[in-house]
Amino acid sequence: MAGKKLLLANDHIEGIRSLRVYRQHGGYQSLEKALKQMTPEQIVEEVKASGLRGRGGAGFPTGMKWSFLAKPEGVARYLVCNADESEPGTFKDRYLMERIPHILIEGMIASSFALGARTSYIYIRGEYFYVARILEQAIAEAYEAGLLGKNILNSGFDHDCYVQVGAGAYICGEETALLESLEGKRGNPRIKPPFPAVAGLYGCPTVVNNVETIAAVVPIIRDGGAAYASIGIGKSTGTKLISASGHLNKPGVYEIELGVPVEEFIYSDEYCGGIRNGKKLKAVVAGGSSVPILPAELILKTANGEPRLMSYESLADGGFASGTMLGSGGFIAMDEDTSIVKNLWNFSRFYHHESCGQCSPCREGTGWMEKILHKILDGNGTLADVDLLWDIQSKIEGKTICPLGDAAAWPVASAIRHFRKEFEEYVKNGKNIRDVKHYYRLNNLVEI
Ligand SMILES: Cc1cc2nc3c(=O)[nH]c(=O)nc-3n(C[C@H](O)[C@H](O)[C@H](O)COP(=O)(O)O)c2cc1C
Repeated sequence: MAGKKLLLANDHIEGIRSLRVYRQHGGYQSLEKALKQMTPEQIVEEVKASGLRGRGGAGFPTGMKWSFLAKPEGVARYLVCNADESEPGTFKDRYLMERIPHILIEGMIASSFALGARTSYIYIRGEYFYVARILEQAIAEAYEAGLLGKNILNSGFDHDCYVQVGAGAYICGEETALLESLEGKRGNPRIKPPFPAVAGLYGCPTVVNNVETIAAVVPIIRDGGAAYASIGIGKSTGTKLISASGHLNKPGVYEIELGVPVEEFIYSDEYCGGIRNGKKLKAVVAGGSSVPILPAELILKTANGEPRLMSYESLADGGFASGTMLGSGGFIAMDEDTSIVKNLWNFSRFYHHESCGQCSPCREGTGWMEKILHKILDGNGTLADVDLLWDIQSKIEGKTICPLGDAAAWPVASAIRHFRKEFEEYVKNGKNIRDVKHYYRLNNLVEI
């Protein structure tokens, strides 16, 4: 049976990108309900009741984050949408913004009303320039229809929403680096506290939320928090967009009810339709390049033999010894021909390139990890290099201002933990880079 869809229910409808068609299918009814029938506090309560957790990666409860927003008298508050989406393996926000931009704009206005924000920003990565144009078009339509600007739908609520294009830096997805960049500065993460809820954009209280999180506010207002919470499993409520890529028969963006078994997600025809060319599954990176990689046996079942589910808790079951994280939902499946070491080198190259350089463990460590992995791939590595790699990652994790250091360390730690033999084979056999048939070049599979 097909799972419930809350965000992508209408993505197949022709013209849904336009305000006219979006409204024909119930668009902006949640905003109308929010402005005419609810108080800001009631909306915050519904979001709390929904159990919605931030879809940007960390899974922090959205209602709780909103209730932390400081409200000093006479000081502006801001809502900032994080549309930076630079995590390798993640492309669900792009799909949503491209297909149904108005669900994000509606979510932005309704959420801003709840938070008392007169102004909001959508910060979008530079590579999504064409998506920024789509959003700007949607915003222009919304102004034209009186859904943005002064006295929206005669409610007395005024709101302006702007799109800001970044310059294409992964670090600008980290919320405080994003705020720096939005203020026109170099995107270096800030030391916390103070958290953005107290001192964010221009020093004012600010909520930063992911695109999908803000879009999810639309069905929460429409159906109520309890209805949203009734979908999913345990503390993983609602639906989640998953970007599925790699050696799958049907890669793409799927909206799943949280709690679907991983095995069903990979093999059923409703979702990814199994592994390409009848190959065996070797490993999965379940939540974007930053989360620990798991071998097939551990992604399909937990260490206790329970079926692994697509939920925050089930994916994390076993901690880092045998579990992983849902993260941003960037689900990368790798078949039996994949070189884990080569894939890791590629990820490490990315983190080295994207480190902002503020903290020395990350700035220096990411470079060393890339170099050592390249040495191993080139057939010049030693067993001591594998131990050195382990040592370096352990000296980055938890020792940086922002979690980019962790994001660079976890893939290395998990690859060594679960696939150490493969590293040793490269060392012993002097396996050369060209021996490997497939490898990932960021999100794209490249055959060499
Ligand atoms: C290096 C780095 C990159 C990040 N990139 C993104 C991103 O592209 N999009 C996103 O929503 N969150 C990203 N995050 C997480 C944000 O810092 C923040 O937690 C998130 O935007 C909060 O929104 P949420 O509560 O709705 O998930 C990143 C974090 C780090 C450390």
